[in-house]
Amino acid sequence: MRGLFVVFEGVDGAGKSSQLARLAARVEGAGREVVRLVEPTHGPIGGEIRRRAREGPPLSAREELDLFLADRRQNVAGNVLPALARGAVVLQDRYYFSTAAYQAARPELGLSPADVVGLHDGWAPRPDLVLLLDLPVARGLERVARRGPGDAFEEVGRQEAVRRTLLDLAGGDARFAVVDAGLGEEAVAEQVWARVAPLLAAAEGP
Ligand code: TYD
Repeated sequence: MRGLFVVFEGVDGAGKSSQLARLAARVEGAGREVVRLVEPTHGPIGGEIRRRAREGPPLSAREELDLFLADRRQNVAGNVLPALARGAVVLQDRYYFSTAAYQAARPELGLSPADVVGLHDGWAPRPDLVLLLDLPVARGLERVARRGPGDAFEEVGRQEAVRRTLLDLAGGDARFAVVDAGLGEEAVAEQVWARVAPLLAAAEGP
């Protein structure tokens, strides 16, 4: 059994975590080991990123980028690669496409999304599938607002740039599937499964 690396991306409030939970149940039901991961992680660096986004003082663009990269290096080495090596299905909420979209949306950084993707060459494994849950920014922020007070990543102008960049990245890449996240939870889950099921079947070979 080969491992499979599936990533969810999308603007805040697109429904990534609930779709990830549904998919995890379905993949486990198909008899595969599932490893659920999220970035920023719940490790020390991820914790620091969330705390600074919530409470400040605000991170500079460079500090923010460096922390996301350091958090990701630990996640890749400690979680993703070992899970894939033993043939597990890794389902991860956000990956380097988020860094490309969110950090490149800070003009002070002076890096394009492609530059940021390039910083991952040689150490961050490419996912087998990226499920981009696409939603107009206003609808995502509406959903986020219902969950409680926000953080530094939720500003509207920046979210628009994030959405555009994620769609641009998807446009040039056959490993992306863009799903309309406004369809309703059941319909989105069906579209997600339609993309994952064939990969699972293919991964059963030697
Ligand atoms: P969090 O509230 O934990 O997640 P979500 O809103 O997806 O439930 O915050 C994660 C925030 O971090 C989210 O707004 C996107 C941002 N982010 C980046 O800016 N760069 C990155 O590389 C990653 C992984 C996330």
